[in-house]
Amino acid sequence: MTARLRLGVNIDHVATIRNARGGRYPDPLRAARISAEAGADGITAHLREDRRHISDGDIERLSEEIVLPLNLEMAATPEMLAIALRHKPHAVCLVPEKRRELTTEGGLDAAAGKDHLASYVSALGEAGIRVSLFIDPETVQLEAAKALGAPVVELHTGAYCDASGGAVAPELGRLVRAAEKARGLGLECHAGHGLSYDTVGPVAAIPTIVELNIGHFLVGEAIFSGLGGAIKHMRALMDEARARPRPQVSA
Ligand code: PXP
Repeated sequence: MTARLRLGVNIDHVATIRNARGGRYPDPLRAARISAEAGADGITAHLREDRRHISDGDIERLSEEIVLPLNLEMAATPEMLAIALRHKPHAVCLVPEKRRELTTEGGLDAAAGKDHLASYVSALGEAGIRVSLFIDPETVQLEAAKALGAPVVELHTGAYCDASGGAVAPELGRLVRAAEKARGLGLECHAGHGLSYDTVGPVAAIPTIVELNIGHFLVGEAIFSGLGGAIKHMRALMDEARARPRPQVSA
């Protein structure tokens, strides 16, 4: 399975910059349009419970006005479910959320949270929304996602991106094995969190991963090279890595 790897551009931090001053600039919708022109395959936005970046109004405008599929990241709460069912995005990615974290620090504990998550996965699926679970690259989590009936998992790449020296290969190995396990379970496999020009290649080279969601680095890099330029360069690195054979992982 070496199909073209999709790139979902996460535009949360365009909203972070806007919210630093209030008002309307820079506009996440404009970022979504530029992403489409630059070759993104989808737009990802996380509506957090505390609305620290993306707002309800952003989700409404993104749902109505963008041409690319919208992937709404959200916590499994009744409020967020109601919002998703109202806007019916192409996809929902269920993520864990802690109010005081700076970013989504780890994956969803789908194994421990099965009873809680089951009704969300089924309600979203029945509404025709593609559901994914953002999980750590662990067998127990993949098996829980399968048992829950989620068609897609997104592997948390944060530990791999944060690793250095001798810790990189084992973390990459966890991702390679988890992607293989996902394939064996019949789950569509995505990945994301913390990816940059330096870290994207080995993940993009994992043949059974079909989508990467990347945000913070692209928005940061946009300061220096423009959002369109940053996306095009990321896209080129992904395509280049995908064209290479599977990475050799020693772990
Ligand atoms: N995927 C998921 C599920 C996320 O929660 C995030 C962060 O919001 C990302 C991907 C993108 O991570 P980053 O902004 O670090 O690229």
